[in-house]
Amino acid sequence: MRTPLIAGNWKMNGGLASNATLLAGLLGDKTELSAELAVCVPAPYLAQVQSALGGSPVRWGAQDVSAHERGAFTGEVSAEMLQEFGCSYVIVGHSERRSYHAESDELVAQKALRAVTTGLTPIVCVGETLEEREQGATDAVVARQLAPVLDAVGTQLTSMVIAYEPVWAIGTGKTATPDMAQQVHARIRVLIAERDAEGAQQVRLLYGGSMKPDNAKDLLAMPDIDGGLIGGASLNAPDFLAIAHAA
Ligand code: 13P
Repeated sequence: MRTPLIAGNWKMNGGLASNATLLAGLLGDKTELSAELAVCVPAPYLAQVQSALGGSPVRWGAQDVSAHERGAFTGEVSAEMLQEFGCSYVIVGHSERRSYHAESDELVAQKALRAVTTGLTPIVCVGETLEEREQGATDAVVARQLAPVLDAVGTQLTSMVIAYEPVWAIGTGKTATPDMAQQVHARIRVLIAERDAEGAQQVRLLYGGSMKPDNAKDLLAMPDIDGGLIGGASLNAPDFLAIAHAA
């Protein structure tokens, strides 16, 4: 049985005061959740979320990690540093990093490996562009992005979470239909099962891309969708919690 994970990706949003309000809103919900809740925040706010969420069931993480252990890599943040701030998760290979920072499939795999080696759970993002979908290349793109990650983490693949985020659905209000998303999720599970049949049943596969309170229930009802990676709607506590309650 896979516990659903509803993870917020704040992206480059927030501020000390607005974060405090948002975090208090999340902690104010006392109803029982069957999903695990997490927020992935900009690195400067990790101390704030650690102090606000420590001791609560809500987990937290970062949005990127260096592939290197330590050293002369100006501007980068290491997995050990994230661990010191109590992170459980770190997003790697988000499409915004792949496209704006030219992150290759191989670099994403090295980051995922660095996270796993340090005891963090990477949320590895994969997904096709609109052009690739229209060319019928969705499965091929996802397989190409996933292969180096599965090669790198080897037998530790159950220490990962995979997020399928079709690029055309991110921040656009266009959501993959539940059937479209399920098809890709099922394909991802088959690709993982080719390496580790048992492990594939344990790995959580999240959907991301304009997931909102009004479409979450149908997406999360699909057999291979084990949660969501939420952008815009994670910046508002009632919306984020409504998605969590739909899981
Ligand atoms: P939106 O939910 O804003 O579409 O963002 C999705 C996303 O990129 C999460 O990582």
